[in-house]
Parts: sequence; C-alpha cells; structure tokens
Amino acid sequence: MTDPDIRVLDDAHFRTASTLFRDTLHARPPTDEEWKTVRATYQDGQALGAFAGDEMVGTVQCFPSSLAVPGGAVVPMSAVSRVGVRADWTRRGVLTALQRVQLRAMRDAGDVASSLRASESAIYGRFGYGVATRYREVRIKRRETRSRVPVEGRVRLVDAERALPLCRALFDRLSPERPGTIGRWPGWWTLMVQRVLKEDNLKFAVASGPAGDDGFVIYQVAEGSFEIGRERPTVLTVRDLWAETPRAWADLWRFLLGVDLVHEVAAEGRPLDEPVEWLLTDRRALRSVEGDETWLRLLDVEAALAARTYRAGEPVVVGVRDRFLPENDGAYRITPAGASRTSDEPDFVVDVDVLAAAYLGDVSFAALAITGHLTSDSADAPGRADALFAVDRAPWCGTFF
Ligand SMILES: CC(C)(COP(=O)(O)OP(=O)(O)OC[C@H]1O[C@@H](n2cnc3c(N)ncnc32)[C@H](O)[C@@H]1OP(=O)(O)O)[C@@H](O)C(=O)NCCC(=O)NCCS
Repeated sequence: MTDPDIRVLDDAHFRTASTLFRDTLHARPPTDEEWKTVRATYQDGQALGAFAGDEMVGTVQCFPSSLAVPGGAVVPMSAVSRVGVRADWTRRGVLTALQRVQLRAMRDAGDVASSLRASESAIYGRFGYGVATRYREVRIKRRETRSRVPVEGRVRLVDAERALPLCRALFDRLSPERPGTIGRWPGWWTLMVQRVLKEDNLKFAVASGPAGDDGFVIYQVAEGSFEIGRERPTVLTVRDLWAETPRAWADLWRFLLGVDLVHEVAAEGRPLDEPVEWLLTDRRALRSVEGDETWLRLLDVEAALAARTYRAGEPVVVGVRDRFLPENDGAYRITPAGASRTSDEPDFVVDVDVLAAAYLGDVSFAALAITGHLTSDSADAPGRADALFAVDRAPWCGTFF
C-alpha cells in the first residue's frame, strides 16, 4: 500500500475528524449543539489527518499540557487523544504513519514528553509509550463501615457556577505536588463545563482549614431502586478529588462516607498509595481493582532525565534505543547530582518505552530485569538504578482525557 498522506488539519476538516474518531469508538457523530463545544477544543496545528486521496481515513490530536516529574519540576508535555483509523483502513500502517509525524512534530515543538490513555494495551508500546502511572478503582460498602477520623476542618457544598473556578484554581495549585500529574488545558475545562451543564447532577464540595480552601471533591450520586426484585444500590461516585493537606484529604473522604441514603461509595482512577482503607472502621468494606493509567513517551530523553531529581546512590549508565526518534539513542549517566549524555559503556540498554515506565518511579528496574525487559551484564546495575530513581509517592495522573 502507498503510505497515506499525513496533513495538519484546519477548520475545514475538524468535524470530519471528530466524526471519524467517534465512529472508531462506536459513538455517534456530535450533534450540531455538541459540536459548538467540541469545535472549541480543536486548535490549528494540533490535529493530524491521514488521507487516501481526498478521503480522511485516520486522525490523531494532541493538547498542550505539562507533566510534573520527581523533584518538583514541570516539563512541557502533549496529551495525545482522539486517535482513530477508519475500520476499513486498519492494519495497513495508517496509525504508524500518523505516529511518525506526530512524534516528530511534538518533539520539534519543544515537548519533553507526550502521554495518552490506551484503549488497548497492544497498540502503543511500539511507538515508545510505556505505562508510567497506574490507578485503582475503589468501592466501599458504606453501610458496613464508618470513618475512624473525625472531621477537623470544614467541608461545604458549593453550587457548580461558583465551584468550577474554585476547583480549577485549587487543582492548578495542588496537583503539581505529585509526580505524574498533568496540566489541564483550557479545552479540558470547556468539556468539563459542558458536562456539568448538560448532565450528571454533579456535586461540588470544598474543604477548608486554618489557611483557607485546601481541597475539593466532585461527585455524583446514582439513585438506586428499592423495588422488590429489582433492588439496586444507591452509589456515590467520586469523579475528582484533590487535597493539599492530609487533613483536607481525610475531611473530604469522611464527608463522602457520611452522605446519607448511600449504599456504596465508589471512586474512579485514584492513586495506588491513597490509604482509604486505613480510614475505615472495617477495611474489608473496601474492594479495589487496579489499572494502567498514563502511557508516557519521552520525546527528549536527555531533557527528561535532566528534569527530574535522583536519590543518593552509586551512578549508573543507562543505554536507550528509540526507533522513531533516533536522536534519543545513546547512553546517559545518572548520578545523585543529575543526568547527562555520556560516551561511557552502558550498564544496561532499554527501549524508550521501558525507560518511560520507570521514569516517574512506577516500576522498578529490578522488576523490569526479572521480567526480561532489560538485560544487564552487571548484576547490581538494576538495583543501583532503583536507588537513584526511588520516589516518595506513587506517580499518578488523575486527569482523564
Ligand atoms: C488502534 C488503531 C488506531 C490502530 O490503527 P492501525 O492503522 O490499524 O495501526 P497500524 O496499521 O499502524 O498498526 C501498527 C502495528 O500495531 C498493531 N496494532 C495496531 N492496533 C492494534 C490493536 N488494536 N491490537 C493489536 N495490535 C494492533 C498492528 O498489527 C501493527 O503491527 P505490525 O507492525 O506488527 O504489523 C485502530 O485500530 C483504531 O482506530 N481502533 C479503534 C479506536 C481506538 O482504539 N483508538 C485508540 C484510542 S486510544
């Protein structure tokens, strides 16, 4: 097959791209009303189309964002989304052609990394994306437990109109404290506002302590049924919860567990190290499942490695292979003082997707070694790398896109 022609899309093609993408997810096209909002989230230069002749057969898009890395730095990052290839054109290299252009464009624009959420785990490793953060979903049988911790501050309900700017400002201030969190771009908030206006009966609660507002939760309650033979529990689902202090975090959870006439409290996409079970009088009232969250791509390996900090330990030299961005190929010397390119022989060599998985501290090099993702002649090299890359908190993104 001749390669599809990859073009930067403009206004004339945005709606076709949106319809094509939604169709690949088996969703209906946007209505005229929906399109008014969705259109605002397309920007010149950020969406690509793959064309066979004049016909669009695939599309990808990215949004301008940022990534918090261990040590507190925030680097430019593109959030990749709306990836789809028309069903009659799949498995002919269309996504590969789009990726080739998109990865190059993002790197040339100065992005240190890009990230995405994968619909299927087999798709993105070959393009250099590795699972760099994970989340867990929790379900708590509220009737069987209570919070062990008393509320110390104040949690108040706020109406949507006043809550959104408040949540947005709190999010911008609080989120970079955890590695793996990303900046929410204006279009992300546009879609959030649309959701609030249109559906869901979303509720907003804000926590405050001695220094003012320091946390918020957005949640929704799906009413159950008490009809005999058709009983369904009433479920309160946490959509977004951010807290600046341990007190604000505990206060928000205690508030949620205290909402009356709720059988279950569920939370989507929470950090792996969020100790909710330790708040409960009966930890078995909580059940959880874990999933992969961020697929991270280091576009500029040298800049990414230099941006984060490292712990005390012996230096290690990591070799990197990158099929799509060969300027990343090479060896990088990591020490407690930082990271830089070197001509030294590497202690081990990894593909760029494997480095991305370890970059924020989610997986250890030791685990990667015993599962065959890296081979090393030096038996202690994975352990040395782990000492340097160690982090205090589980990396977590917390923003769905
Ligand atoms: C995922 C999708 C974009 C892939 O597009 P595509 O044009 O078929 O991908 P390519 O032909 O470039 O595939 C490149 C390689 O990845 C493999 N691959 C692609 N999609 C795959 C999938 N879903 N499962 C397994 N392997 C896949 C191909 O087999 C090919 O492997 P090869 O190089 O060994 O031959 C397309 O299948 C799609 O639109 N799916 C539905 C929507 C979706 O899931 N979008 C992603 C949202 S995150």
